[in-house]
Amino acid sequence: MSLPHEAMAPEDDTLRPDPARMYDYMLGGDHYLPVDRAAAQSLIDMYPTVGLTAKANRAFLLRAVRAIAEAGVDQFLDIGCGIPHAPNVHDVVREVRPGAKVVYVDASAVVLERIGASGPPEGVVGVQADLRDSRTILEAAGRVLDLSRPVGLLLVAVLHFIREDEDIEGMIAALRDGLAPGSHLAMSVACADEIPQDKIEFGKAAYQGATRPIRPFPGDRIRGWFEGWDVLPPGLVQPSLWRPETDDPPYMEAREEVVGAAVLRA
Ligand SMILES: C[S@@+](CC[C@H](N)C(=O)[O-])C[C@H]1O[C@@H](n2cnc3c(N)ncnc32)[C@H](O)[C@@H]1O
Repeated sequence: MSLPHEAMAPEDDTLRPDPARMYDYMLGGDHYLPVDRAAAQSLIDMYPTVGLTAKANRAFLLRAVRAIAEAGVDQFLDIGCGIPHAPNVHDVVREVRPGAKVVYVDASAVVLERIGASGPPEGVVGVQADLRDSRTILEAAGRVLDLSRPVGLLLVAVLHFIREDEDIEGMIAALRDGLAPGSHLAMSVACADEIPQDKIEFGKAAYQGATRPIRPFPGDRIRGWFEGWDVLPPGLVQPSLWRPETDDPPYMEAREEVVGAAVLRA
């Protein structure tokens, strides 16, 4: 299969902003370059709540992962996993399911470098692959996970890096079809429904020169991705509204209309 240009972006490109490093900057990490900080900061300067939205998304990811582990799942496939940022998915999962296995997948070489440098424990592996290439991802996952048992599939803050004219529905269906019944999907994605047009354009521009440009999707299209899955309560909501915990930081103050989040069961 030939991949679109974006999928083949040179991963060692230090001259262009990289969404993995931009997100690391927004989360308060230290694995970004000046070019990433400049792009992310331009967005934050214009819309100060963007940094809070990134943190709310990360907090949703960890709550969702814990809920899936509590539902009995002890193996996870995290696609678009991002640069490690403690606590990581495997840390949270293993609090509930010690010895749980996690396959981290990302298209960006810097992510895999950082996973390697972090010294992942046994049963936690990183794979460089593109979300569009479900066959490679499932093959790699199958070498570590038992795909005849339920898997927690994570597609958190990654789908908005796929172009709107691509077959996102097919990508999600191919992953779902490769997983056992009882598997769960946690997802979040930039949702265009309530974002003012000027903010959409500014956000797209901030990522325009990046290795992977961003675009938000209409809620109707996002809900179409859920075919074949049961959407668990409370449904598709802003990340901080997905089963909030009382000790969460006050992310509710963030204007997070940009992101919708949900957990589903196959
Ligand atoms: C905003 S970060 C999200 C990280 C993590 N999932 C989270 O929510 O905390 C998005 C990640 O998706 C990765 N990514 C973007 N497009 C991708 C693709 N087509 N295939 C795999 N990973 C991709 C980026 O490299 C980046 O690390």
